[in-house]
Amino acid sequence: MTPDPVDRFSEDRRISRKTLLKAALVATAVPLFAGTGVALARDTGSTGVPLAPTPDCDDGDDPTHDQIEGPYFKPNSPLRTSLVTSGTPGVRLTVSGYVFGRACKPIPGVLLDFWQADTNGAYDMSGFGFRGHQFTDASGAFTLSTVVAGLYPGRTRHIHVKARAPGSGILTTQLYFPDEPRNNTDSIFDPALLMNVRSVGSGKEGTFDFVLDVAQDPTDPTGPPTDPPTGPGGSWASGAVYRAGDRVTYGGVAYRCLQAHTALTGWEPPNVPALWERG
Ligand SMILES: [Fe+2]
Repeated sequence: MTPDPVDRFSEDRRISRKTLLKAALVATAVPLFAGTGVALARDTGSTGVPLAPTPDCDDGDDPTHDQIEGPYFKPNSPLRTSLVTSGTPGVRLTVSGYVFGRACKPIPGVLLDFWQADTNGAYDMSGFGFRGHQFTDASGAFTLSTVVAGLYPGRTRHIHVKARAPGSGILTTQLYFPDEPRNNTDSIFDPALLMNVRSVGSGKEGTFDFVLDVAQDPTDPTGPPTDPPTGPGGSWASGAVYRAGDRVTYGGVAYRCLQAHTALTGWEPPNVPALWERG
């Protein structure tokens, strides 16, 4: 049997891996991650110890910019999980992982807004090249298709991201690549933000789990919503999964879904014109 070529960490896989890790912790003192790179949040969470939030990390290469965002952020990025087309230059990179709260429970519906330099180290400031936002799915997972970010003066290789859980503040941070010579000289570089990256064919696959400073009850056995209270066609409901084109009513008004998402409190149709339009 060949290894899973795309380590997407399905719910079943994640649970089984956690179970395996718990067994290993009890049975042996062998370091779990020796030689395998950075421990992912999904692994450390299995110890039951509350996780530290993902560290903040700003860009800092423009002295007049907001240090939280860096100089190259642009709002209103397109909703998309792929930043590339078949002709896009660069080494293909897929980044996947989960977003967890402090108790290591996955959070669905988290807004993740990525932006990065192209393979030549240039940011697209006139358009939205290598910019895109998405929402974690019902299992708290995300996948981004892009290229390995290019280098530009003063910085090591990195990908910018903003993450916002429903009803929470924004985490602005950066993801880094292992084994980069400039990691040692970039004053902003933070090893806690290293992705696990491996080569697959001519491309690369990276994984990273975010931990947001969102309080969760570690004894609550319920995970992300797996049984939406209502589906499309009825009254809008938090927790329901909607696809583009689905129709609901809210407050006696009919709405049509513009983007697939998991509905959450605060995202009522009148509040999020990016997700719903009247009609
Ligand atoms: Fe940057």
